Amino acid sequence: MSKALDGVRILDFTHVQSGPTCTQLLAWFGADVIKVERAGEGDATRAQLRDIPGVDSLYFTMLNHNKRSITLDTKKAAGKEVLETLIRDCDVLVENFAPGALDRMGFSWERIQELNPKMIVASIKGFGPGPYEHCKVYENVAQCAGGSAATTGFDDGPPMVTGAQIGDSGSGLHLALGIVTALFQRTMTGRGQLVQTSMQDAVLNLCRVKLRDQQRLERHGVMEEYPQYPNGEFGDSVPRAGNASGGGQPGWILKCKGWETDPNAYIYFVCQAPVWSAICKLIGREEWISDADYATPRARLPRLMDIFAEVETWTKTMTKFEAMDAMNKYDIPCGPILSMKEIAEEPSLRASGTVVEVDHPERGKYLTVGNPIKLSDSPTNVERSPLLGEHTDQVLEQLGYNAEQIALLRAEHVI
Ligand code: COA
Repeated sequence: MSKALDGVRILDFTHVQSGPTCTQLLAWFGADVIKVERAGEGDATRAQLRDIPGVDSLYFTMLNHNKRSITLDTKKAAGKEVLETLIRDCDVLVENFAPGALDRMGFSWERIQELNPKMIVASIKGFGPGPYEHCKVYENVAQCAGGSAATTGFDDGPPMVTGAQIGDSGSGLHLALGIVTALFQRTMTGRGQLVQTSMQDAVLNLCRVKLRDQQRLERHGVMEEYPQYPNGEFGDSVPRAGNASGGGQPGWILKCKGWETDPNAYIYFVCQAPVWSAICKLIGREEWISDADYATPRARLPRLMDIFAEVETWTKTMTKFEAMDAMNKYDIPCGPILSMKEIAEEPSLRASGTVVEVDHPERGKYLTVGNPIKLSDSPTNVERSPLLGEHTDQVLEQLGYNAEQIALLRAEHVI
């Protein structure tokens, strides 16, 4: 079966996590992704957090599936020539170097346009234009600068980062959308364009509801669905809301049977208005159905923490899965806190291709997250990540280099 991005060739100048997330998605949609790496070391993540000595780390393998790897020293004149050939041959250049690195290498947007006016150049930086535009940025810096850390955690504790890599993988996702949009526009204009996103922007986009709340707070001084209401103090910016729901339906994380020893014996419970009667019946508080203090969502707002405590008394009598079953019978929205172990072993995630087992020639079998976006006409086959420089000769031959020229480039340590 054909793939959605068949025929699209990507010059993948990305490293670490943000850029590689983007190009891996494009590869899964069928693009030919050529990852350009420095000879000897390659992408720094090949060696980071290694679990098997001398073997590409899971960090690298899980972010670079379905790509080809070539090694190239783009600071040498002959390396720049190869890069120019690649730029002429590819549709998209994706990079997430530190600000200015591509220009310093001699490949400004203007120069790239001279070489290939149809090329789309897509970049991730830590920050967009402004006081921090020159800064190098990693995941948690973006979480802190994008509004996530200030709004995550509990009110009486420090700001917290989240385990979800919303700065890195989040910006990669945003960039991928920008690239396919630019490819679509190119079918009409015939021109390439610059596609830029920043990690701060990506995090803030994902924290959109918190900017919503900032404005609600400024207007009313309190937010009734926040755990600080009705007794706590609201300052002048959105407080950390613990496990409160970010939407219009209040929710909280509740203990289940075994919570004393199992750190994940919890369930997320949503106190959705249409199923209030079912909730009351299930937990044995039927009088709340007609009690004016509890009967309406508005009346419940100042009593939410008491209601959660009462539901928790009930959830503590069963496992998170039993609670899930019991509540789902009545369409009460809820979700067990699944550990990574449980997720890795979940059969339905394996069946859907979201968790995939991949074989690697040096490390053997490992688990990865497959393509979370399923296209009916463009199925994803997850293929192992390339070894460093595995495809250097193959790609150079495709670009028209003969064996003698390749040998010379190798002798000069350009490849
Ligand atoms: N041949 C020769 N030189 C190469 C090369 C190649 N194939 N590939 C990269 N280089 C050079 C670059 O040109 C750069 O040289 P310069 O500093 O002389 O201009 C150098 O390698 C280092 O690149 P840099 O991006 O600065 O790497 P770093 O390890 O110092 O910084 C980051 C890493 C992630 C902090 C930085 O790249 C960054 O801020 N990127 C943007 C934000 C981002 O994506 N961060 C999250 C990553 S998950």
